[in-house]
Amino acid sequence: MCGIFGYTGTGRAPEIVLEGLKRLEYRGYDSFGIAVPGTPVQVIKKQGRISDAGQCTYSLHGTVAIGHTRWATHGVPSDVNAHPHQDCTGKIAVVHNGIIENYAVLKRELMGRGHVFTSETDTEVIAHLLEESYNGDLLGAVETILPRLEGSYALLVIAEGDRRIIAARQHSPLVIGIGDGAMFAASDMTPVLEHTRRMIVLEDGDVASLTPDTLEIFNGGNPRKRDEEIVQWSVEDVRKGGFPHFMIKEIFEQPDVFSAAIRALRSEELPTRLLNAGQVVLVACGTSYHAALVFKYLLEEQCRIPARVEYASEFRYFTPPIEGLVIGITQSGETADTLMALRMAALHNCSTLAITNVMGSSVSRIADHTILMHAGPEISVAATKSFIAELAVFLHLIDAIREGGCAARLDHAHRAIDEALLLDLSSAVKCCIPAQDIFFVGRGPYYPIALEGALKMKEISYIHAEGYAAGEIKHGPFALLSEATPVVALCPPGDTYGVMVSNIREMKARGTPLIILGEGGDRDLEEIADVFIPLPGADSVAGLLSATVILQLLAYHTADALGRDIDKPRNLAKSVTVE
Ligand code: G6P
Repeated sequence: MCGIFGYTGTGRAPEIVLEGLKRLEYRGYDSFGIAVPGTPVQVIKKQGRISDAGQCTYSLHGTVAIGHTRWATHGVPSDVNAHPHQDCTGKIAVVHNGIIENYAVLKRELMGRGHVFTSETDTEVIAHLLEESYNGDLLGAVETILPRLEGSYALLVIAEGDRRIIAARQHSPLVIGIGDGAMFAASDMTPVLEHTRRMIVLEDGDVASLTPDTLEIFNGGNPRKRDEEIVQWSVEDVRKGGFPHFMIKEIFEQPDVFSAAIRALRSEELPTRLLNAGQVVLVACGTSYHAALVFKYLLEEQCRIPARVEYASEFRYFTPPIEGLVIGITQSGETADTLMALRMAALHNCSTLAITNVMGSSVSRIADHTILMHAGPEISVAATKSFIAELAVFLHLIDAIREGGCAARLDHAHRAIDEALLLDLSSAVKCCIPAQDIFFVGRGPYYPIALEGALKMKEISYIHAEGYAAGEIKHGPFALLSEATPVVALCPPGDTYGVMVSNIREMKARGTPLIILGEGGDRDLEEIADVFIPLPGADSVAGLLSATVILQLLAYHTADALGRDIDKPRNLAKSVTVE
């Protein structure tokens, strides 16, 4: 969703905020804007990407600034709908991430009292409400109007001639960075890491007042102390480090991410007893949902623990009869649907466990227990290393439940990822580039890997791609198979090998180009395939990891050859903080 960033210090605030917004662009990138609290408040805002905007801040001056990069929800991407938004007098400027659900009612009321609106956004009501309450005390004005807002917000507010930034949070993430004679406020840690590792994560209901040297936090009108954390992520983690895109950098980090996750988990006490609490329900969205499906297969097969997987967005409104443990899996820890699903689980008296990549994220405040996946910051919108880290967590949990069942296997699994990174995929990429549709098929735990492969392909190359349980493809999708529709088949050795080979032959009979991933040296598969890709570690759980990496690379190189904007695919955002 949107990203917000504020700075108050002694440096050139507009430039510092502009650079910070560039780091947040993965949260939304259809327009951006910056405001400084001169007399009057100065604002620049534009449709388009900050990264394409050059040095657009030359007309702004000052040591305090707030900024925003937008992912449109209310109103099309345009100059006027870009944040910051202002009141009628132009004395106040606001940037906002989230949704004000009762904005239509508030807007009617405010217009009835003579306020003039310039945008179609929900956010603008905040500026006009503040105009009515502001009498020189910006903190007081913000505290007065917040109870009128329904929905979610992370807000930064400035006022003419005031060097403070007022920040407020409700159901949207907001982090404060404590620098040397400077304070930062941001949607997440990535833009702050350039300046400081000292961070405070605000809690729902918090309102903070920032000056270069002071930070005051209030909740319900009372002063609050929040713990400061020293973040371990480094500034290198949020740079491309010589790679052309964050996505490929993050794909190549995966051997280390997998090993680091396993190492870190081994030194933690995990709440594995919870998994034995009858049924386990896994809730997640997007890539994390696919990881959850892999876990279900492994948990049921290797530990005989029944598990069901639900889209968090469905679970929240159509909650099945549940008991036992509900696990929310979310890289960002901020996905609105997953947070709401866990809240719903708590209402049903279930224990809740969060698996997340972001220390102090909202999900860890909601769940009874949290496991960190230790993947480091993931910047590319298309998730890659967080999926591998999620699998690392699951494999380790399974180990722990089985008391060391496959520990040795995990020690070697990162090698399979390493080997997958070295494969030549050019023939497979050539096969995908002209396609309009591609199917990805697998069985058992390879079925969710196929789903994830299809998701990666569609989100960054814009080629329509679908993942299927291989046995299901006969029940409809067969009608779409032709010489122009490649199928990527995941065919490791094992119980389903024979039936997979039959499925593949049936597809071959329809003239479908076949890209097959199987055990190296499998002559039968080599013969059937148009392109055969040897799958490192095919005979063990490591094959799931290497297959994932191969499909990520296939999507990446296809999208690259098609000239797509890989790190910022159209219409998408990294962290979906609205339902
Ligand atoms: C968005 C991202 C996906 C991600 C999904 C769930 O749609 O674009 O890459 O998988 O959110 O994110 P989470 O942070 O909850 O894992």
